[in-house]
Amino acid sequence: MELPFAESYKIKMVEPIRKSTRQEREKWIKDADYNLFGLKSDMVFIDLLTDSGTGAMSDRQWSEIMLGDESYAGASSYFKMKEAIQEVLGFEHFLPTHQGRAAENVLFSVLIKEGDIVPGNSHFDTTKGHIEFRKATAVDCTIDEAFDTTLSHPFKGNVDPVKLENILKAEGDRIPFIIVTVTCNSSGGQPVSIENLRMVRQLADKYGKQVVFDSARFAENAYFIKLREKGYQDKTIREIVRDMFACADVMTMSAKKDAIVNMGGFIAMRSKELHCKASVFNIMFEGYITYGGMSGRDMNALARGLYEGTEFDYLETRIRQVEYLGNKLMELGIPVQQPIGGHAVFVDAKRFLPHVPKEEFQAQTLAVELYLEAGVRGVEIGAMLADRDPVTRENRYPALELMRLAIPRRTYTNNHMDVVAVALKNIHDRRDSIRKGLKIKTEAPIMRHFTVALDLA
Ligand code: F0G
Repeated sequence: MELPFAESYKIKMVEPIRKSTRQEREKWIKDADYNLFGLKSDMVFIDLLTDSGTGAMSDRQWSEIMLGDESYAGASSYFKMKEAIQEVLGFEHFLPTHQGRAAENVLFSVLIKEGDIVPGNSHFDTTKGHIEFRKATAVDCTIDEAFDTTLSHPFKGNVDPVKLENILKAEGDRIPFIIVTVTCNSSGGQPVSIENLRMVRQLADKYGKQVVFDSARFAENAYFIKLREKGYQDKTIREIVRDMFACADVMTMSAKKDAIVNMGGFIAMRSKELHCKASVFNIMFEGYITYGGMSGRDMNALARGLYEGTEFDYLETRIRQVEYLGNKLMELGIPVQQPIGGHAVFVDAKRFLPHVPKEEFQAQTLAVELYLEAGVRGVEIGAMLADRDPVTRENRYPALELMRLAIPRRTYTNNHMDVVAVALKNIHDRRDSIRKGLKIKTEAPIMRHFTVALDLA
């Protein structure tokens, strides 16, 4: 008999989590204005709000915490991080930042001006926010296949070459760079192939543009390339990572994902000149260039995390758990984005709750239902997150209305995944009785989903 698959680690430290009653949850979610960001963490049993900064560090990362050098300038921790970035990602220059959006803020302060256009594959909300905040426009050039959740395509994060070249041709003067998100979070944690990254590189060269990778989940992207792209089966994850980044001039990183730390990020680049220009903004917004918003101990743990996060055994354990939940949901007839993404399972709320009008936020409604059912916290990736059009102020309804169940790294067991699956099945069984969604009471002008107050529609 073939041995079953099992995790590539064992558990040394645990953290209690609390169950609650439906009655308690009804009160708590009402008090939180039906916004799951408003809940206290101990009101949540299984927290799948995000895989960002919520993972479990290894014993080796914790030991690096003790070795942190907290010198203001020139700390050994900075050089440890520099070495890891050079070795794993192949970039010579870098600037630490406190997280991914801070890297975007610093980099875009140099590269983006009012009226610019930044094409890419379904920009993440903070990326889009930092573009629009500068009165520039993010143009989505993702392949059409990504917007049909029933369609199986190995690289749904891919950039459409025709869409990209059209915009480069038409608006070349206004485009400072192309941004590629690996894996593409907004389209469902979907990977981008090496072939596609090379195509982007070629078009960028043809039109004289830089390529930036939004790299939060670059290692998960490399894992999918190894499994799915011809010619990569025998390459190591690190070799694939080097091949990927060979197509980029600059990268921004939220280290809270694939470097498995609770806080941290950076910008890495080939150009010394860009490093120089970005240093000014880093010092203004983040901190001196050898710590940029991070403590020495966190830089140490991050450096170690870059090595651990690019080990095949770790990635296999990680992504197979996400698949385990996704496959369970599919067996139970629940509509999910296919194939299953790297960091999360995305439930198609339009198909799950067809009786709730889109104006009443289907995915948010589903996320609230799931919390009420089992104390599981997912997150809306739909009309609420898409915000209003900056010019017309009308609600934007994206092609996909999803509820994301993001799995923290090395944190939950498959028993937890079973609870999530059964909870969703129970809701699915009574979906015809769910006909009303939610309406907005108050909202912020940008990135409203974090603080929006809602009421039952
Ligand atoms: N880029 C991508 C693709 C992301 O998924 C995120 C964060 C960021 C940039 C920003 O990084 O949070 O460190 O400032 N994503 C989290 C999520 C918040 O839940 O998907 P950050």
